[in-house]
Amino acid sequence: MSRLISGNILIALLVFFSVYFCLGHVLEPQYGLNEELTQEAVDTDSTCPNNVMSCTRTDVNSCCSPKYGLLVLSLQWDLHHGPSEKFTIHGLWPSRCDKERTPKNGCDSSRTVDKVDDIIMNLNRTLYSEMKSLWPSNKGNDNKFWVHEWNKHGTCVTTLDPNCYDKDKYANGTDKIDYFATVVELSKKYNVYEYLKKHDIVPVPRETNGNPPTKRYKPEEFIGAIEAEFGFKPSLTCGRGGKLMEVRLFFHVKNKDVYMPMDSVGGWLCLLLFSE
Ligand SMILES: *[C@@H]1O[C@H](CO)[C@@H](O)[C@H](O)[C@H]1NC(C)=O
Ligand SMILES: *[C@@H]1O[C@H](CO)[C@@H](O)[C@H](O)[C@H]1NC(C)=O
Repeated sequence: MSRLISGNILIALLVFFSVYFCLGHVLEPQYGLNEELTQEAVDTDSTCPNNVMSCTRTDVNSCCSPKYGLLVLSLQWDLHHGPSEKFTIHGLWPSRCDKERTPKNGCDSSRTVDKVDDIIMNLNRTLYSEMKSLWPSNKGNDNKFWVHEWNKHGTCVTTLDPNCYDKDKYANGTDKIDYFATVVELSKKYNVYEYLKKHDIVPVPRETNGNPPTKRYKPEEFIGAIEAEFGFKPSLTCGRGGKLMEVRLFFHVKNKDVYMPMDSVGGWLCLLLFSE
């Protein structure tokens, strides 16, 4: 009798362990998922979770990820300013995640300035000369242009708030230097003129023998060439007669300042005149 019981117990144990073993395997992915959920829970408590893309969560500290998390790099085409084979910079504009603009007068009136050129020149002469070349005003006053861009847009980059820096890493002007350096870096990294040239899209003469240019580019070719190199669609703005004015590249930001390209939001289509 007792042998029968221990036989049953043995079978029961075998059944138990094989079920346990199988379930263990079935449950494994589940466990993995739970681990991720736990990780997520930890992130939620933390103010600075890693690798969270801007505009995907609202609970992240604005020092760690830009609150206005849709960033637009606007590059302008004006042959009479800047290097002949380069678009020059208009600005880098943080925008709200719902695609609306930030306030017209900027986001932090306590940090507006009326001189940017001196600050940059004093703190980083290399950056200053790059800005003179790549970010010229087409109205003749570079300082005024840069002041406008900083006051209206730079102050909206929440990660550059002086309170976000370690005390020993912030000196007066560090926020401005970091903003302008980021924009210059992005414009060098995403060289739209080069992208287009690679696809045989180059500016045509403004006129030949008194006649207006005959060549126009289809917006699809133009956007397609940039998309092929940049990886995402830009948006375009045009002026009178369909003349190309600006190419705008869109980004989300990972962590504090890792710019991740994305397709543009909105945009205008025109019969493009990319002229000298
Ligand atoms: C100054 O600016 C240049 C160009 O943006 C940059 O490469 C360099 O690292 C900066 N120097 C310092 C000391 O931050
Ligand atoms: C910071 O620098 C600006 C000029 O670049 C000056 O007007 C301002 O007083 C300085 N602020 C402090 C706290 O030193």
